[in-house]
Amino acid sequence: MKETRVASLQDKIVLITGAAGAVGGAVAAGLRAAGGVAITTDLEGADLVLDVTAEADWQRVIAGVQERHGGLDGLVNAAGIVAIGSVEKLDFATWRRVLSINLDGTFLGCKYALPLLKERGGSIVNLSSVSGLVGGHNLAAYNASKGGVSLLTKSVALLGARNKPPIRCNAVCPAFLEGPMVDDIAKTARDPAGAMEKMSAEIPLQRMGKPAEVAALCLYLLSDEAGFITGADLPIDGGLTAK
Ligand SMILES: NC(=O)c1ccc[n+]([C@@H]2O[C@H](COP(=O)([O-])OP(=O)(O)OC[C@H]3O[C@@H](n4cnc5c(N)ncnc54)[C@H](O)[C@@H]3O)[C@@H](O)[C@H]2O)c1
Repeated sequence: MKETRVASLQDKIVLITGAAGAVGGAVAAGLRAAGGVAITTDLEGADLVLDVTAEADWQRVIAGVQERHGGLDGLVNAAGIVAIGSVEKLDFATWRRVLSINLDGTFLGCKYALPLLKERGGSIVNLSSVSGLVGGHNLAAYNASKGGVSLLTKSVALLGARNKPPIRCNAVCPAFLEGPMVDDIAKTARDPAGAMEKMSAEIPLQRMGKPAEVAALCLYLLSDEAGFITGADLPIDGGLTAK
């Protein structure tokens, strides 16, 4: 079978948040396999410690990237958390934590990566979710945070389009994926195995997505082959939002 290596990722320097997680880790592995340079960050378990909610962490990490690599071609904002809870049930501290990691973290990432990306153009990929496109009665904070990520993405894309060469910015919107995030959601249910089955059954393709499938889309968006795609919300959801 023909290799599907994305030629234009060769030597591209990409900073990835949440890279100890399922999607961030798969993006880093795929990028390295394609000849790119992945700078992985997370709270722990990655090349660099970066709490996406801490402005000082971003300043330190971006200064380090400038010094060590001399520039940046891409950013993948993959750090994120989910909290189950309706607007009635959710406590304010949890709301703020979800908004802080998912939305503030993405804002800070875009803000601090832009000066480097502006020098030679580049691509930002923000991990939104189908929950950034459609609501769920018990996902108040997650819905609000990912809806924010999707619209922030459009604002960054319009700014980045003015740069020469341009900086593209897109949001990737997965449905349930195999991995720790969905495992944790299932654990909160009375019947975790049943909850997993129910989540798969909601998806027209009758299965969960794989982090590697999401990573492949992220890598495409990082590549020059995606040069005319910016400001988009791209569902990768087995048909969930087609319903
Ligand atoms: N897993 C899914 O079903 C799913 C579906 C739709 C969207 N998403 C989104 O995709 C992204 C990646 O999800 P995943 O499946 O890889 O989840 P994951 O739980 O495997 O990984 C998330 C990572 O984010 C890190 N993180 C949490 N708080 C952080 C902080 N303050 N600073 C830095 N890192 C922090 C965690 O340590 C973890 O390694 C998230 O934004 C998530 O909301 C996931």
